[in-house]
Amino acid sequence: MIPEQLRHELEQRVAGAVTNREAAVDVMKELQRHYGWLTDEAVLEAADLLGLSPLQIEELATFYEMIYRRPVGRHVIHVCDSISCWAMGGESLLKQFERLLGIEVGATTADNVFTLLPCCCLGNCGKAPAVMVGERQFGPVTLQGAEALLAELRSARS
Ligand code: FES
Repeated sequence: MIPEQLRHELEQRVAGAVTNREAAVDVMKELQRHYGWLTDEAVLEAADLLGLSPLQIEELATFYEMIYRRPVGRHVIHVCDSISCWAMGGESLLKQFERLLGIEVGATTADNVFTLLPCCCLGNCGKAPAVMVGERQFGPVTLQGAEALLAELRSARS
């Protein structure tokens, strides 16, 4: 259950949106920030806050790659696999992350620090191959740069 203050903030955001659907991503992201991922409980809370059905929330959550319907690590590494990044070595970069983390794409490290996911174009094609972690964009990320990025994230507090 979310704290009363967060509920109040989210109710205000929903009230300020033109449509409830417009506020949906914002609400889901905040609930995800609170729980670490969009839990079943969070889906029900989002539905309640937005006046939508849980099924509608599920549909929206499935549509957005940055909304996670299963547990993820502290840092979710999104490696772009769209055309520009693919052409600039995105596939090798994804394999490099797999190698460095010792996991396959889609998995989370045993210490729950990293989850590795492919993603569609991040709108950062000029800096391909591009990576996104949280709200931060990185690119172009070289194979060596991947190692440095992981070291930086490991030492970060959140
Ligand atoms: S194709 Fe990767 S950021 Fe656009």
